[in-house]
Amino acid sequence: MAQIKKAEGFIDWLDQRLAVKKFMQVMMTEYWIPKNINFLWAMGVVLIVLFAILFVSGIFLLMYYKPDVKLAFDSVNYTIMQEVKYGWLWRHLHAVAASAIFLVIYIHMFVAIYYGSYKQGREVIWIGGMLLFMTFSAEAFSGYMLPWGQMSYWAAAVITNLFGGIPVIGPELVVWIRGNFVVSDATLTRFFMLHVVLLPVVIMALIAFHFYTLRFPHVGNELGEEIDFDKEAEKYKAGNKKEAKVIPFWPMFLSKDIFVVCVFMVGFFYLTFFHFNFAMDPINFEPADSMKTPLHIYPEWYFLWSYEVLRGFFFSSDLGLIAFGIANGIFLFMPWLDRSPVVAPAHKRPMFMIWFWALIADLIVLTVYGKLPPTGVNAYIGFVASIAFLGLFAALPFITSIEAKKAGRAS
Ligand code: HEM
Repeated sequence: MAQIKKAEGFIDWLDQRLAVKKFMQVMMTEYWIPKNINFLWAMGVVLIVLFAILFVSGIFLLMYYKPDVKLAFDSVNYTIMQEVKYGWLWRHLHAVAASAIFLVIYIHMFVAIYYGSYKQGREVIWIGGMLLFMTFSAEAFSGYMLPWGQMSYWAAAVITNLFGGIPVIGPELVVWIRGNFVVSDATLTRFFMLHVVLLPVVIMALIAFHFYTLRFPHVGNELGEEIDFDKEAEKYKAGNKKEAKVIPFWPMFLSKDIFVVCVFMVGFFYLTFFHFNFAMDPINFEPADSMKTPLHIYPEWYFLWSYEVLRGFFFSSDLGLIAFGIANGIFLFMPWLDRSPVVAPAHKRPMFMIWFWALIADLIVLTVYGKLPPTGVNAYIGFVASIAFLGLFAALPFITSIEAKKAGRAS
């Protein structure tokens, strides 16, 4: 350790002990970002802001929420919504942010797919991102249970029941997850623990990991151009800022991100104050009743596509469960299913472009039909869309291998 000298100020005092200047240099002022990226690269920072809103509003809600089946519904719908000053505001902020974060996660994920940001050294960034997606899904599912309304109860019953389909251990596993034979107080308290302690801690660790994984391969860019970051950074530091293909994360890049965050927040607060109901299901304003099954059970909008894959195989619950498992895990393997080494936006990869938009269209169909009752023609459309989803992923290695061969011949 270097010798400790009399500090010239607070920063110097900290620097001698924690190397804060070096840290700022590595993470901020000399963390190089390509110039040729658009506003879609700000989604990561929008996600951080939304997570911060969820965290802070969650802390306020936690002060009055009661994790007990006899008290939970009233603590949310009466105490927080009607008795506590601005309780309604914290609840709406929390609910709208939960929905918005999924919208932005999907945009962030599909931007990465469109630009091939999971390739050539960026595989671990992608894996970290997918782990975040999975943990956020568990966080949203456990949170949805807490108001203990009809949909909280029945969605929990349906989803925990799915684990029963796992061979051999399934039925025992369901009881273990629920802490009882049916969804009950024990289930609520353990999901409460997951929602307010374990999963947020895991999410924070994963966000730190996601940032760390970004530091060395750096973010991609709009053209898929391979940039020599050291060489370009030298140009920038030498004052040749116009010619350099990079800018520092702080203050240049982050100031652009903050602008996008501000625009996003206008929409976010508009929804929070004027259209908060879009993030809440009317059926969940009825208290949970284990004796009264709602006519139609469905999850929040962001899970509808995978729920529809589950229901799509209406003639076999086993097949549905396998397809559901595949749907939830398949995105993790994107870097290996895409066999082409070409890193370029989809509009420069003709076959991949068709694949990409076919996938988006299919996910929209699955989401729409996931909300409708699975009867009559809906069941068949759901089946075709589920098969199409699996088929698209089965076709991806072949489509991209053809592209890889063409690229090999061209070079
Ligand atoms: C709350 C969750 C997340 C946070 C806070 C977050 C944050 C970030 C940030 C700040 C960046 C750099 C700037 C940008 O490209 O936006 C980034 C990049 C990236 N993220 Fe995420 N992310 C999250 C979830 C995900 C998910 C679900 C995926 C997909 C599986 C993902 C995959 C990626 C990839 C591949 C990049 C690199 C983009 C590139 O190189 O062009 N992230 N993330």
